[in-house]
Amino acid sequence: MRIFDTHAHYDDEKFAEDRADVLYALHHAGVECIIDPGCDMQSSYTAQSLAADFDFVYFAAGIHPEELDAIPEDYLAQLTSLAGDSKCVAIGEIGLDYYWDSSRKELQKQIFREQLELARELGKPVIIHDREAHGDSFEIVNSFWKEKNPAGSPGVFHCYSGSAEMAEELLKRGWYLGFDGPVTYKNARKTLEVLEITPPDRILIETDSPYLSPVPMRGKRNDSGNLVYVIQKIAEIKGLTPEETAELTFENAKRLFFRSL
Ligand code: NI
Repeated sequence: MRIFDTHAHYDDEKFAEDRADVLYALHHAGVECIIDPGCDMQSSYTAQSLAADFDFVYFAAGIHPEELDAIPEDYLAQLTSLAGDSKCVAIGEIGLDYYWDSSRKELQKQIFREQLELARELGKPVIIHDREAHGDSFEIVNSFWKEKNPAGSPGVFHCYSGSAEMAEELLKRGWYLGFDGPVTYKNARKTLEVLEITPPDRILIETDSPYLSPVPMRGKRNDSGNLVYVIQKIAEIKGLTPEETAELTFENAKRLFFRSL
């Protein structure tokens, strides 16, 4: 089975001690591709250098809504130059997070819009982080891609946590939805409903490593090897085998992220 982890933060300090060992072991075990999305300028550059060091690692560049404090004046120019790297597959992760910080909604929206505009100009897909900000996230992405984009999907809602109704609207407009460890949690009912209505060709699998470990690994550092538990759950819901699930999500990731390489 070959696996594509479309969202894993191997630049995180939790991998400082054993990063190369972990990555080589995962690759050896069938994790054929990994995307490491940046969260601020520094982590975008670190993700870029990981992609340079490991041929199976790709990266995305972007400013996460929790990282608004030290945005350089010329951040859009810096992101543009990162996006010119042949291994930069997306702008992300970008979006809105009203769970961690609801005091700076206007600034979050501004930075989100600026990066969406950049992605559209560059023709890159986006990786969206939307936590407790579903209404505003939907409204903003819709102002960019109201109709289905003829040039391809606008991107993915990473670790999708919105309603099934909003998922349907996003799917109509060509979005992919990312599913992570939480599909294995006891309180996953809403996410499983979303999974049920999501066509197999729009599902992406992600770990969000080192976070969001699936059952039975909760509480431990997450890595792409744990995707087998997410694959198992998705296979169950969609009536597929784990092998078919891994393969189709691999093809989905290639279709979305490798179009501009
Ligand atoms: Ni993430």
